[in-house]
Amino acid sequence: MNIDFEKASFKDFENIPGLDPFDWAKLWGEYVRDRTKAGQFNYRQENLSGCGPEIELNLPGNPHRNFVSLVSNDYLGFTQHPKVKAAAITGIEKYGAGAGASPAIGGHYIFHQEIEDKIAAFFKRESAVVFSTGYTANSASLQALLKGEDLAILDMAVHASVYEGCLNTNVKTFLHNNLEALERVLKTSLGKYRTRMVIIDGVYSQDGDLAPLAEIVKLVKEYDAYLMVDDAHGTGVIGETGRGVIELHDLFQQVDIITGTFSKTFAHLGGYVVASPDLVGFLKFQARQHIFSATLSPASACIAKAIDLVDEEPIWMHHLWDNIDYLKTGLQSLGLDTGITESAIIPVKIGDIGLNARVCGRLLEAGIYANQINYPAVSRKDARVRMSVMATHTHRQLDKVLNAWEWVIKKEGLSD
Ligand SMILES: Cc1ncc(COP(=O)(O)O)c(C=O)c1O
Repeated sequence: MNIDFEKASFKDFENIPGLDPFDWAKLWGEYVRDRTKAGQFNYRQENLSGCGPEIELNLPGNPHRNFVSLVSNDYLGFTQHPKVKAAAITGIEKYGAGAGASPAIGGHYIFHQEIEDKIAAFFKRESAVVFSTGYTANSASLQALLKGEDLAILDMAVHASVYEGCLNTNVKTFLHNNLEALERVLKTSLGKYRTRMVIIDGVYSQDGDLAPLAEIVKLVKEYDAYLMVDDAHGTGVIGETGRGVIELHDLFQQVDIITGTFSKTFAHLGGYVVASPDLVGFLKFQARQHIFSATLSPASACIAKAIDLVDEEPIWMHHLWDNIDYLKTGLQSLGLDTGITESAIIPVKIGDIGLNARVCGRLLEAGIYANQINYPAVSRKDARVRMSVMATHTHRQLDKVLNAWEWVIKKEGLSD
């Protein structure tokens, strides 16, 4: 089996015909060693210092120890906020290191209830249920709600967790953010399924663009379907008070199911589903994760503090937007293509997988750690470097990023 390592993507190793999984693993190991030797495998780098705008990486052979980090979704910098850290420590001191059980059978604590109440109120709704990851908030809920008689209608760019949640139901995808394509699916599927649920993100994780939510809500109502919105990347970033794309359009009551994560703006781990009291009550006992998997640890008591801080300290969102504008303008003035982003996710479109790997390797050489995004996260010809901006980046750090890009452009002939 011949795989061109320079052009390969993770997907190429997923199910190699004629080989068994142990052979796939061997080939995968060869690929990782080859790419690491070339300085172009920038995944799973060992972080020695914690989450932040500047981090220490263990990268043998690289001249740097400290890197400007653009890989964290801790948009408001709350993972290092003293009040959030103190709340996590208090949670552990008060309740212990672990929760000891799944929520349905002994693992539901007062601090979980507080988080559920706060996140529901944050989205101006009555009820919410927490999950131990954002991934399972989507996958476990959808598995519980949609079966063989139903239809999930997905924007093709929704997160992998949504696709996983829809494995046991029927799925139709529509072209990303394309309202005509969505309407076509809604029209042609009318009367053919028991439940039809349109599922979209608020902010999309690879382009950083926003869903046209007002128009989508209108279509969903017109064709009598349900709507689920995952605003993992919009929460804390978009809208006057950080309530995401739903706040932009004031549609808190019109979205049937709001999901998201506590691992980005809310600085910890876990996910949530905000919906009607009946639906939330159902998920608490029908989402398999609530029966078969342990709940969030007492350190998660810090999530309640992080939710409060979005309102108590709006200064962080102001810093974030100042940094987003600064970096985006700087990249664009270097002639780089940042696509259609309107959020804290800033891609630089490169195109070719091999060139993208070289660019990311060069950025590491220059002391910048950014995400290397390839197929299947994006299409094969749409490889890009993805950067996540934080409120706590300084302009000095962002200048270092811009200088590095200027150097990479020359080294790799990006402007040709
Ligand atoms: C849009 C979206 N939804 C859900 C998730 C999963 O969240 P978590 O990492 O907290 O499990 C992610 C993670 O990156 C995401 O980007």
